[in-house]
Amino acid sequence: MNILILGSGGREHTFAYKIAQSPLCDTLFVAPGNAGTAQIATNVALGVTDFEAIKTLVIKEAIEMVVVGPEDPLVQGVYDFFKADAQLKNVAVIGPSKVGAELEGSKERAKEFMIAHGIPTAAYESFTAATLAEGQAFLETLQAPYVLKADGLAAGKGVLIIQDLNEAKEELAKMLDGKFGDASTTVVIEEFLDGIELSVFVLTDGKNYKVLPTAKDYKRIGEGDTGLNTGGMGAISPVPFVDAVLMQKIEERIVKPTIDGLVKENIEYKGFVFIGLIKVGDDPKVIEYNVRMGDPETEVVLPRIKSDLVQLFKATSEGTLSNETLEIDERSATTVMLVSGGYPEAYDKGKVISGIDTVEDSIVFHAGTVTKDGDIVTNGGRVIAVTSFDNNFKDAIKKSYQNIEKLHFDRMYYRTDIGFDL
Ligand code: AMP
Ligand code: GLY
Repeated sequence: MNILILGSGGREHTFAYKIAQSPLCDTLFVAPGNAGTAQIATNVALGVTDFEAIKTLVIKEAIEMVVVGPEDPLVQGVYDFFKADAQLKNVAVIGPSKVGAELEGSKERAKEFMIAHGIPTAAYESFTAATLAEGQAFLETLQAPYVLKADGLAAGKGVLIIQDLNEAKEELAKMLDGKFGDASTTVVIEEFLDGIELSVFVLTDGKNYKVLPTAKDYKRIGEGDTGLNTGGMGAISPVPFVDAVLMQKIEERIVKPTIDGLVKENIEYKGFVFIGLIKVGDDPKVIEYNVRMGDPETEVVLPRIKSDLVQLFKATSEGTLSNETLEIDERSATTVMLVSGGYPEAYDKGKVISGIDTVEDSIVFHAGTVTKDGDIVTNGGRVIAVTSFDNNFKDAIKKSYQNIEKLHFDRMYYRTDIGFDL
């Protein structure tokens, strides 16, 4: 079948890499894609939320499956757009319905869902401009640090963790006054959870599910987890501290009630649930849901899946995921993200990238790249992810770092301490 992937990052290159290996895939399209996807698929220049342009492409190219990478099209209802259209309704869309995507699109909605289904998470209250005074009074009842979250999508910047009470009160006022535009019309104030973070990924057809490999992401720009938040600077899978006991708790207390909650609420959901967790003591608690795969977590999770990804997606769409088996590579995978100097603040684009062809025993996933005058040049903050396998994550990460030595672009930066805390 012909397949379309929506998105342009390292996540989407990794999807393309796996899907292109499937005998079930005839022609693969990526929209808009990057220089890496262009080598294994056909890139199509269109915006991921331009549903009419997507429709035209899907009809023209007889596409039978659409795999949605980022959250924006899901939150804007791309699944529902397909299902409501007579010409598109039989196309398999891998991603939840608009109502399902609210689990990521609204932090308040996600908290209500967790509370309704008994899923462990931080205590919280939510506030609007009309209840600013109550919000500030609520902050006084909490202990530092204070966790303030914009309800809506804010490009990963909507969560503030603040030590000082007065500063937290001021920030609450600014957020409710439009600091993140409409995204912070409502602000969720949460109990701070102290522990180590990990992520669990689930593929569901809305009833049945498969738990995919765990991963840990390194979100801060600086060594030792310091500095500004980024989209993610590196990742490791599996997470070494997750033993069978913790995994069982995660599945029983979090994964099952999440999928059962979707069923009880009649939510159509055929896609990924990315569950951000904090291990507090010995117990997992949910920090957030995302309704898509993570980036760069995908760059370590998908390469470890040995099963045919297109077959799994087909079963996801048809509601027969329980008939499938999931085969996982037992080795560890690590990835290190190379970014443009200045990221996550202002950075330049268009820098020539050299050395990609000299990489050995690692996989180069393109994130922000484009081809220009025969060169591969930088086209984003996060530029390339270098993924490696080995029997343990320490050896795998060594391979990634050895190969990174061979790669170059002006003002290239990366963290040299991925996995330092494990
Ligand atoms: P989120 O966008 O909800 O994943 O939040 C971004 C980051 O903020 C998370 O990855 C955590 O590091 C941190 N965070 C969010 N909520 C909490 C919480 N309740 N307690 C501690 N850290 C948190
Ligand atoms: N790496 C975190 C995310 O994709 O949201």
